Amino acid sequence: MIKVHLGDITRLNVDVIVNAANARLLGGGGVDGAIHRAAGPGLLDACRNIGGCPVGEVRATSAFSIPVKRIYHTVGPVWRGGRLGEPELLSSCYRHCLALARRESMRSIAFPAISCGVYDYPPSLAVEIAVEQVQQHLEKDGEPQSIIFCCFDAEMAELYHAQLDAYVRR
Ligand code: APR
Repeated sequence: MIKVHLGDITRLNVDVIVNAANARLLGGGGVDGAIHRAAGPGLLDACRNIGGCPVGEVRATSAFSIPVKRIYHTVGPVWRGGRLGEPELLSSCYRHCLALARRESMRSIAFPAISCGVYDYPPSLAVEIAVEQVQQHLEKDGEPQSIIFCCFDAEMAELYHAQLDAYVRR
């Protein structure tokens, strides 16, 4: 089941929240900053021990003070016009997170709009990729059974609703 939620991802009652991190995995602004603030200093120590994450991949940590099972740190591409592999890298973020959630038997996962803030990815293009990858995953595999697109503003939520409707009508 796919849902669109408007609010702060650190407040969701799910098994996994996905962080839109950077390759150093040492925190930052946006959703990365919010997750580190909510999780507490233990998260930064855990991320330091991982030593970074390539763009398009995912690394998992505990959630520390956030009452979820796992945090999946994925690194989206910076938008550079769309001809330098950005779509493939953003697709890879969703695919890797969903495959890891499947492997770890997580029942629910919440995604922020990866790369749509500081990394400047055009939201309509990013949302199209997010919906496509999640739908493709669910056509192959029923787990995780609950996938939430967590939006921080109403415009982003509207894009997800429109894209989900369009996907169903394809
Ligand atoms: N909950 C849900 N979504 C949020 C939250 C939150 N608490 N805070 C911000 N967002 C939304 C933004 O509004 C945006 O739509 O998350 C989306 C992703 O934006 P960013 O957090 O800026 O992430 P991204 O564009 O992937 O850039 C990653 O920014 O914060 C740094 O360390 C991070 O270097 C990395 C870069």
